[in-house]
Amino acid sequence: MDLALTDVQEAVRDTARRAARELLAPEAARNDAEERFPDQTLRALARLGLMGINVPGEFGGAEAGAVAYAVAVRELAQGCAGTTVALMVTNMVAETIARFGSEAQKRRYLPSICGGEWPAASFCLSEPGAGSDASALTTTATRDGDHYILNGTKAWITSGGHAGLYLIMARTEPGRSSKGISTFLVEAGTPGLTATRPEDKLGLRASHTTQIVLEDCRVPVENRLGDEGIGFRVAMTALDGGRIGVSAQALGIATAALNTAARYATERRQFGAPIASTQAVQWMLADSATELEAGRLMCLRAASLKEKGQPHSREAAMSKVFCTEAANEICHRAVQIHGGYGYTREYPVERHLRDVRVTRIYEGTSEVQRIVIAREILKQWQ
Ligand code: CAA
Repeated sequence: MDLALTDVQEAVRDTARRAARELLAPEAARNDAEERFPDQTLRALARLGLMGINVPGEFGGAEAGAVAYAVAVRELAQGCAGTTVALMVTNMVAETIARFGSEAQKRRYLPSICGGEWPAASFCLSEPGAGSDASALTTTATRDGDHYILNGTKAWITSGGHAGLYLIMARTEPGRSSKGISTFLVEAGTPGLTATRPEDKLGLRASHTTQIVLEDCRVPVENRLGDEGIGFRVAMTALDGGRIGVSAQALGIATAALNTAARYATERRQFGAPIASTQAVQWMLADSATELEAGRLMCLRAASLKEKGQPHSREAAMSKVFCTEAANEICHRAVQIHGGYGYTREYPVERHLRDVRVTRIYEGTSEVQRIVIAREILKQWQ
């Protein structure tokens, strides 16, 4: 793996860095406090080419690759992690359409997503009774002539109620098998699709997370993404990439927390000197910076394999476990360095700690990542 970024990757990084500083960071605290969904900011990010970073240019994407995507997410998450997750899921949906969609689906949907006509797109796999065990989903899609009729409830849907397009996994064959699942593209406003009130969450409060209720929702057959029965593979392929994005997001949040803590440590004086002069604080900073560097390399390696079209499920899972668990610890340390002030909204580390927690849960918990890694190891010996 070449550790140097290409000119294109550097350009995407610089665009994201500027956007994080000028667009996202100034509104992050207010978005969090008011649970304000940043639809105008998301459209602005699309105009900067950051929705569809890894989508072909002919469909409106930036065609900059998976490494550029990871680098951009890490930058953006330093500005506002809640805005960033809406962008991540939208990119994941766009990539999935680019990979599995028909020519007509790509022409119809990708320019709208990548160009910011819609603020976001949503990925609808989980259900109240099917989280980690995703293939147990029970939402049905029943064929009725040239339509499917969708019924069921999707849970934990990022940007529910704001998305222009919902990518929905539903069962086209009864039974528990992962082979009975198919994927559908459902436009907002389709009768029978409604979003519930946003969940009252610990963190990422700028990102609205809802249930999506499907009641006799009629979807044209031409909106099925790929063949019947490949929906679980579509979902897992999307999540392999999504997990690289979550790694990058966790690194971004933790980088912001570390930077804030290091600055605070040089300003805060106790026992007649800045607390940065104590070994206790120096070791916390050193461990955090070391873990961030290790995580950055793991994330880039997984992204680089993806970009080359090579298998990367294991590396994406390893990257997600390592980056998200390290990032949680780094945010805890940042609060610790701030002492009591870190426990208040006066400093952003309180928000970083709340925001980072979910990275160990969504797009596959740490425990699911360990299942993926262990299966890959054991495959060689069975
Ligand atoms: N790529 C392609 N295909 C894959 C795959 C991958 N990474 N992983 C599995 N598959 C295929 C398998 O090859 C298998 O196909 P065959 O039957 O043809 O061999 C099929 O899918 C079933 O695979 P498994 O037997 O491994 O499936 P499983 O039921 O044991 O599940 C699991 C494995 C890893 C636990 C999986 O269910 C999983 O990842 N669960 C977590 C789900 C998740 O991450 N949810 C997050 C939702 S999105 C979100 O968080 C919301 C948001 O908006 C942020």
